[in-house]
Amino acid sequence: MLSVRHLTLRYPNGTCALADFSLQVKPGELVIVLGGNGSGKTTLLRCITRTLAPTAGEVWLNDTNLTPLTGDKLRRARLALAMISQHASLVRRSSVLANVATGALGRHFTPWTAIGGLPAAELSAAYGYLDEVGLTHLAQQRAGTLSGGQAQRVAIARALAQKPKALLADEPVASLDPEAAEDIMRLLRRLAVEENLAVLCVLHQVELAYAYAHRVVGIRDGRVEFDLPRADVSRDAVKRLYMSEAA
Ligand SMILES: Nc1ncnc2c1ncn2[C@@H]1O[C@H](COP(=O)(O)OP(=O)(O)OP(=O)(O)O)[C@@H](O)[C@H]1O
Ligand SMILES: [Mg+2]
Repeated sequence: MLSVRHLTLRYPNGTCALADFSLQVKPGELVIVLGGNGSGKTTLLRCITRTLAPTAGEVWLNDTNLTPLTGDKLRRARLALAMISQHASLVRRSSVLANVATGALGRHFTPWTAIGGLPAAELSAAYGYLDEVGLTHLAQQRAGTLSGGQAQRVAIARALAQKPKALLADEPVASLDPEAAEDIMRLLRRLAVEENLAVLCVLHQVELAYAYAHRVVGIRDGRVEFDLPRADVSRDAVKRLYMSEAA
């Protein structure tokens, strides 16, 4: 279970991007966060991965409080959190399979570890993760030749190679066509359920949230506006998220 408790984040310039923000994502659950530009979504994900240190509050993953961790303990705890974003960020000259295998590097960390140094079992495991996203036929292809939707699938397979407990996604379909976007959301939901992953996904596409989320969290000005099962999220509540204060 990923548990965000009373998180507050104030940037050095004084902007309060998150204020007493709490949410939970259970294993097997796809939770989608909706909110306008600047409402604090990316800040939330960066606090969860501890790229940003919260001003107040805590982030727990199962029995571990990530908040006070530093150094090697933080690095190891972070392995349980995989992140994907709008851009797949693959190594274009490397094969698809090699890209997936890089997800395992963190679990075999030495400063000298390269893909060639990974145990053979990791390469066959990488093939398995590629199978999960339906792309084994592209294993040997250079990543730079992939379509946006394929590249995002490879990024997801790379995230799985990390063997995470939670998967965080910041606008993972923002640069995809509608059909590829549906494919990726279907995949994220299936992975949540079948791999028992806690999946937290930031989106701007309201219809995709209605179609694929188990729960939807609305964020506005760094605060939780609503946190509801998808069927209970009203169109009005979503509309209000995107209205300016003056409206
Ligand atoms: N490094 C920073 N320093 C100061 N303020 C920041 C910084 N990064 C973000 N902010 C501010 O924090 C608030 C939340 O930003 P954040 O990027 O989390 O929003 P978001 O919901 O992800 O928006 P978008 O939908 O545009 O991606 C905004 O007011 C933004 O201007
Ligand atoms: Mg953002």
